[in-house]
Amino acid sequence: MKQSNQKVLITGGSSGIGLALAKKFMENNNTVIITGRSLSKLEAVQKDFPKINIFQSDVSDDTAVRILVDDIQEKFGGIDILINNAGVMNLVDAGNESNDLQKQMQEIDINYNSPIRLLHYFLPQLKNSKNAALVNVSSGLAYVPFSQAPVYSGTKSALHFWTKSIRLHLKPHNIKVVELLPPVVDTPLAHGADIAENDNLKPMSPEKLADIFWKEFTNGKEEITPGISKQLKFMSRFAPKFIFNQLNKQAVPTKK
Ligand SMILES: NC(=O)c1ccc[n+]([C@@H]2O[C@H](COP(=O)([O-])OP(=O)(O)OC[C@H]3O[C@@H](n4cnc5c(N)ncnc54)[C@H](OP(=O)(O)O)[C@@H]3O)[C@@H](O)[C@H]2O)c1
Repeated sequence: MKQSNQKVLITGGSSGIGLALAKKFMENNNTVIITGRSLSKLEAVQKDFPKINIFQSDVSDDTAVRILVDDIQEKFGGIDILINNAGVMNLVDAGNESNDLQKQMQEIDINYNSPIRLLHYFLPQLKNSKNAALVNVSSGLAYVPFSQAPVYSGTKSALHFWTKSIRLHLKPHNIKVVELLPPVVDTPLAHGADIAENDNLKPMSPEKLADIFWKEFTNGKEEITPGISKQLKFMSRFAPKFIFNQLNKQAVPTKK
């Protein structure tokens, strides 16, 4: 992959993994555009990194995404790389009828429907690029579900299968499809779960994750499995019951 002078859109770039990836692309002289729902979070990032371009845009809002596509076309003449990174994780007890159904539906929309939406609307711009790539940020949990976050695990596994499937469709159009399957990473999203406190799943820093991503992405790797994600992939094939039980000693969430 070309390493500089690319126009890169990162959804959910105001925090955690998206922000670390944004910094990595900027360090390597790329034009970076980030989105998020909270304008104040985006503005705080822009204060620290004046070169970054910010757009307040919710990936689950179809109209907002179409406006984003038009604005980017007008301002930048299109993008070369789309990184579907925005995501949320809810801890849910499916056995409790008072759980929040609306929140779970929204989780599916943000984590799974939105990458499909973003690719659909940005496809013409990607087809116009000579160095196009789609990067989907799924999770090591795409290999082994984490029962405390059942909807999240389902969306990440769906995203994994969708990514594998569309790689074959986009190849004839010279759009490279890459999947980043992070392990537990030290971000606000992970702080909401009990996983970060599990000794076997010590969180990786977002900066380390971005370093690994950059090395493997620029080397042309299609499925990037940093840290424990590599083991989860292996174990899901060779000892699926064992790894499932290891990950789910506390299956029902104790936090809300
Ligand atoms: N942290 C981990 O352990 C881990 C592990 C595996 C995979 N991942 C995946 O990595 C990705 C990034 O997560 P993170 O850990 O960096 O979380 P994070 O720090 O909470 O960041 C999430 C980002 O997504 C944005 N976002 C959320 N919903 C959005 C929406 N509807 N439209 C636009 N932007 C939205 C947030 O900004 P606003 O709230 O302002 O919208 C924020 O910028 C996610 O897809 C996550 O599933 C994380």
